[in-house]
Amino acid sequence: MVEAEKPHISSGLEGVYIAESSICKVDGQNGRLYYRGYSIDVLSSNSNFAEVCYLLLNGKLPSSAEFSDFNRQLVEARDLPEGVVNIIKEMSKKSHPMDILRTAVSSLSAYDAETADQSPEANLRKSIRIISKMSSIVATIGRINAGGSYVAPDKSLSHEENFLYMLNAKKPDKRQVDIMRDMFIIHAEHSSNASTFGTMVAGSTLADIYSAITSGISVLKGPLHGGADEAALRMMKAIGSPDNTEAYIDSALAGKQKIMGFGHRVYKAYDPRAKIIKAYLESLQLDASAEVKTYTAIALRSEKMMVEKLSQSHGIWPNVDFFAGPVYVAAGIPPELFTPIFAASRSPGWCAHMLEYWKNNKLFRPLEVYTGQLDLQYVPIEKRQ
Ligand code: CMC
Repeated sequence: MVEAEKPHISSGLEGVYIAESSICKVDGQNGRLYYRGYSIDVLSSNSNFAEVCYLLLNGKLPSSAEFSDFNRQLVEARDLPEGVVNIIKEMSKKSHPMDILRTAVSSLSAYDAETADQSPEANLRKSIRIISKMSSIVATIGRINAGGSYVAPDKSLSHEENFLYMLNAKKPDKRQVDIMRDMFIIHAEHSSNASTFGTMVAGSTLADIYSAITSGISVLKGPLHGGADEAALRMMKAIGSPDNTEAYIDSALAGKQKIMGFGHRVYKAYDPRAKIIKAYLESLQLDASAEVKTYTAIALRSEKMMVEKLSQSHGIWPNVDFFAGPVYVAAGIPPELFTPIFAASRSPGWCAHMLEYWKNNKLFRPLEVYTGQLDLQYVPIEKRQ
């Protein structure tokens, strides 16, 4: 193909619009984020995860009666089928929690009588069950990995409290609940990011919602996307002491390594979610553990250095994943659960996008420019060199 005839390829679909959506606005130039018109700052200061789920799925904040009904459905769906708990037990210790989560969520389809029902009403009901059960699955993975056994949900608790209760087999304290509430809300939605797009590609074939969400989990796992939270904390662990920070970052950048938790395809300003998490981390400092204080010092020194070096030249700022690790550590969460928690938090966003996209579904089927040969002659295997 002559150069002039070559179609434009947008590598990584950068700058490509795939749909119209009223779910989420990411204002990358000004570092603002809105769910259904409400800024993330307003929601994280005033709301809770169940209400944010209602907002994302239904497009408006609920009345008291609507909230009670919705919350009742979320609470009732918390329990896990024994078969799913057995899958978690079987894979525990052998697999990363993201792999266990992906398999467990996929298996949920076997226990849902409405799996094949593609009506909007059934898909909304399944969305509520998926959101509810994904947190139970993540908590159970953590519980079983820590040597415990399945803890049945407590229906008197909020979503955030119940997650921590199923994880630790004891009622959480206020700090842990506040942290989880913020983290669940901040991660709940982010427009057509890679995992949401992955969800939509699977859903656009009219595969059921369990298949679509399983695809979303697979896409989220990688360190360029959701896996960056665990990778960033592991980097802080490798740095070890705050005084090693600058030398470590310098050497990583000199070796052309990416620093996990920095940079974003859309934000060319400070990620508003990172701002909220950073402020929360700083507010914890007075009575934080020595471990959290060390991570915080390393995180703040890394941030200062990265911003000085790369914000002007490359538009690189901390993203949601950078400060998340130390905050989770303050809530007693082990690093391998960070990305699964991200997935459980993002489930309402994935479901909301599917419910919206299916109203006017179109199969995703992009093109590629073929660079191979044509009309080659088939040589029988015994005659090949
Ligand atoms: N550390 C060092 N350099 C970076 C980083 C980073 N974290 N991110 C981007 N760059 C540089 C990159 O090396 C390239 O430099 P140059 O033009 O000199 O070759 C330039 O910035 C553009 O990078 P890119 O990877 O081509 O840009 P992108 O838009 O494809 O990447 C990104 C976005 C998130 C994949 C990337 O910034 C990255 O790999 N960051 C680290 C992983 C990470 O934190 N991911 C979580 C993203 S936010 C949570 C989520 O929604 O998933």
